[in-house]
Amino acid sequence: MISTNSKKFKVYVTQPIPKEAESIMHSNNIELIINQNTPLKRDLLLQNVKDIDGIFCTLNEKIDKEILETAGASLKVIGTCSVGYDHIDINECKKRNIPVGYTPGVLTDASAELTVGLLLNTTRRISEAINAAKTGEWADWKIMWMCGRGLSGSNVGIFGLGRIGLAVANRLKNFGVNKIIYHNRKPNEEGAKQGYEYVDLDTLLSQSDFLIVTCSATKETEKFFNLEKFKKMKKSAVFVNVSRGSVVNQEDLCVALKDNLIAAAGLDVTTPEPLPLDHELLKLRNCFITPHICSAEVNTRVKMAVITANNISLGLQNKALLHQIN
Ligand code: DGY
Repeated sequence: MISTNSKKFKVYVTQPIPKEAESIMHSNNIELIINQNTPLKRDLLLQNVKDIDGIFCTLNEKIDKEILETAGASLKVIGTCSVGYDHIDINECKKRNIPVGYTPGVLTDASAELTVGLLLNTTRRISEAINAAKTGEWADWKIMWMCGRGLSGSNVGIFGLGRIGLAVANRLKNFGVNKIIYHNRKPNEEGAKQGYEYVDLDTLLSQSDFLIVTCSATKETEKFFNLEKFKKMKKSAVFVNVSRGSVVNQEDLCVALKDNLIAAAGLDVTTPEPLPLDHELLKLRNCFITPHICSAEVNTRVKMAVITANNISLGLQNKALLHQIN
């Protein structure tokens, strides 16, 4: 804790946060300016970051050159309450010596759980079936009605075997799958220990019955999953994306789902978020969308907010952050 006689730091918080995170910053001599007006409009963000010492943000806010310039020389630290940081211009932060904190690790389990849930829902048509029970479409027990494809004996493919990809694989191996294959820039040591097979991209695409995307969003992965890739996949394949909407060419995904180039998709992330209600993906019977809830587990979200609060407090004291990107 720092002396309370010194001038208070001002931190702009882009939405209400758990009390635990507020307390940490209060005890570190920080005055919080908490936005209650969500979703936060860009104009309001620009107005409020002027002369601020720190920003507590989430993946909703694009932190770019304009925001940094508007905040000015007073800005000492940024903490995003997320593991992904594609919404922050890290280079611009570096140029200004502004450390950026994030929250890796604590959301791995929650994200892996949701991924498995979304995969099961998509392939075993759970939400569709629940809806059928509610709407009266459930007439009698028909042999081939509401059939999906199971995981047992299947090939599970992971694109981007990092922390979350590994946690997903470690859970799915208990479903009696045939094998788990993955594609990364380079083989993953832990993946090798677990017996997951490193394959080239074409093998991943052509052999996966379930293809799960857990890579990070970078320039290289932007719109990576396009028509060319979907055409290389099995017609029975199920595609699941829990990374970022930006890694998928959504127009191409619509075509792939409509033309049955692949069987179904489960998406926790889209472009934009939220997806407009009239978006084609929301109308497709073989596309299941959750509203970016991968890490939405109570204890996980509190931990993420607490790490962010600590990152900001440390940054304001010129100390290394718990988890620093740049
Ligand atoms: C993240 O943290 O980047 C996830 O997408 C949401 O928790």
